[in-house]
Amino acid sequence: MIDLHNHILRYVVPVHRTEPDIEIAVEMAKIAAADGIRIIASTPHFRPEALGDRLPEVCALLREGVTRLNRVLRERGVDVEIVDGAEVQLWEGLPELADAGLLPTLGEGRHVLVELPIASYATYAEQVLFALQLRGLQPVIAHFERMAGAPTQEFDAEALVSRGLKLQVNCESLQGRRGKPVQGAARDLIRNGLVAGLGSDAHNPEDSPPRLSACRRAVNRAGGRGAFERLTWEQPLEIIGRA
Ligand SMILES: [Fe+2]
Repeated sequence: MIDLHNHILRYVVPVHRTEPDIEIAVEMAKIAAADGIRIIASTPHFRPEALGDRLPEVCALLREGVTRLNRVLRERGVDVEIVDGAEVQLWEGLPELADAGLLPTLGEGRHVLVELPIASYATYAEQVLFALQLRGLQPVIAHFERMAGAPTQEFDAEALVSRGLKLQVNCESLQGRRGKPVQGAARDLIRNGLVAGLGSDAHNPEDSPPRLSACRRAVNRAGGRGAFERLTWEQPLEIIGRA
C-alpha cells in the first residue's frame, strides 16, 4: 500500500512544535510496514504564508529529512520507503511559489497535496487550484471528506474532479473517528468514484498510527471489489510519479 498523507517527518526535522525524535519515526514506520504499507508520502504541514523568508531553507530541510529517515530505515531493516511531499496550506501565493520551484510535490511527480481551510470559506480557492493546473501541477485535495464538517464550505466534489482535481480521503474518517457526517461523506465520495487515494494522516504511533488496512472493508463496500487496491496502490503510484 501507499500512504499518501503522513506526518512522520515531524519526528525527524524541527518543522513543528513537536520535538524531533527519530526513534518515534522508526516506530511509526514499523507500524506502517506491519500493516502492509510499502511507501509513505511525507506530508508535514507546510504553511508558506507563515514561513516567509525561511521557505527555501524549510524546503531543503524537508528533503534532507526524507533522505535521512530513509537511510535510518534501511539501516534498521524497516521495509518502508519515504518519498518527498508536504501538506500545503492553501494560499494565494502558491502559483508564484510554484514558479520559484518552492512548492513541494509528492514523490517524483507533479502532484501537490493541498489543504483547504475548513473553518472559513476561501473565495480564491478554485482560482489558486486552477492557476496551479495551468503550471502543469496536479492538486490533490487533502482529506476532502472533512469539508462535510464545515457548513460554510460549498465545494462541489464532482465539479472539482471534472476539472481535473484529485481528492484524498483519510482512513480515520472512514472509521468514523471524525464523526458521522464526515464518515458518510467519505463513503459517498468513494461510492461516486471521486477519490484518488487514501491517507492515514498519522501524527504519532499511539492514537494516530499509520495504518490503512483497517478501512479495507469499508472502502470495498462503498467502492466495490478492487476499490481498496485502486486507492492504496494503483492511483497513488501515479500520484507519486511512479506509474
Ligand atoms: Fe495532515
